Amino acid sequence: MTTKSAFYDKLNADLDALRAKGQLRSEFELATPQGAEITLTDGTKLLNLCSNNYLGMGNNPEVIEAAHGALDRYGYGVAAGRMLCGTQDVHRRLQRVIADFVGLEDALLYNSCYDANGGLFEVLTGENDAIISDALNHASIIDGVRLSKAKRYRYASCDMDELEQSLKKADAECSGIKLIITDGVFSMDGLVAPLDNICDLADKYDALVAVDDSHGTGVVGATGRGSHEHCGVMDRVDIITGTLGKAIGGAAGGFTAARACVVEKLRQTSRTYIFSNAVPPSIAAGAIKAFELAGEGGNARTALLEKTSYFRAGMRAAGFTIGGEGHPIVPVMTGADDVTFGLFKEVFANGLLVIPMTFPVVPRGQGRIRVQISAVHETTHLDRAIEIFTEAGRKTGVI
Ligand SMILES: Cc1ncc(COP(=O)(O)O)c(C=O)c1O
Repeated sequence: MTTKSAFYDKLNADLDALRAKGQLRSEFELATPQGAEITLTDGTKLLNLCSNNYLGMGNNPEVIEAAHGALDRYGYGVAAGRMLCGTQDVHRRLQRVIADFVGLEDALLYNSCYDANGGLFEVLTGENDAIISDALNHASIIDGVRLSKAKRYRYASCDMDELEQSLKKADAECSGIKLIITDGVFSMDGLVAPLDNICDLADKYDALVAVDDSHGTGVVGATGRGSHEHCGVMDRVDIITGTLGKAIGGAAGGFTAARACVVEKLRQTSRTYIFSNAVPPSIAAGAIKAFELAGEGGNARTALLEKTSYFRAGMRAAGFTIGGEGHPIVPVMTGADDVTFGLFKEVFANGLLVIPMTFPVVPRGQGRIRVQISAVHETTHLDRAIEIFTEAGRKTGVI
């Protein structure tokens, strides 16, 4: 039997080992709201190109006003799960707004998209069913899928041949439903999943299609509805999960949108929905306003995509290798871990906050600095970021 003192010693030894390798992560402590320029509590001023604040709503006055109004009207918290006495009209209104925005019949509000994914697969699939999952899907999908008794299949990211092989295998090995699950936008690459091809295969093999569009909702598609709109398959995707913690206000909350019967089944049996407190009313009201702005926000979205193209072009012209396409996630490819950390440290020392991504978050040898463009960035911010990158890239030998 492990003693308590040995248990704590082991934890400390594990943390010391990470510290020794320089891999102990720490958080930057911000003293200011989310924005293009931020200040840390130690007074450091940084240019911020690493938040998911795509549409700049994290500090939008109209969203803040809507949240204030709900705080005054409904109070601070509901102190109950939705099924107890934690459902207010504002929660129901938000669910309607979500369903209409993504173009599905109904929606259910969770505390986060992690919860939405955590409470999805166990409800919809059982031991005779098959879940076919993209290899680069988000951790919350992987964890949610683990809770289901369904047989699991994994295909190389966006590889339609492998997806088809998995569907064939699932047909041979399972008697129940087949469910394909993919991220709408892959957050390490800024790539939109080929949902048109995925839907074609789903039709061919009579499978359901579920999409986690956390990085797509409000950002991609002609009217910002998400990656299903971007790929021209708005009426062919069965289930969409998403977050209210990125483009749509950036506070908290997640959702699952689907046919009414799916949503009702989740409401009745999804454990992360039933056994968790309701989203605070102020957040729900802020999210309603954020959806309204995202729906009207053609100009903000167009400007965001123009700024993204501007940044990509500037970085390419400077000699960097840039991954992805068509999304404000801009991966600056660096390769080996020491190169990635070297570039990161140099740009950080010059006042630019971006995040280094190394193994195991990305495949070994495919390190990168992830840059995220936001509607709050002015051209001057982007020029400054390109300048800092260029100087640091030359100094560290990346370019
Ligand atoms: C693809 C994807 N799914 C789910 C989540 C989790 O969202 P939330 O922060 O609402 O739990 C994230 C957030 O990082 C994400 O990128």
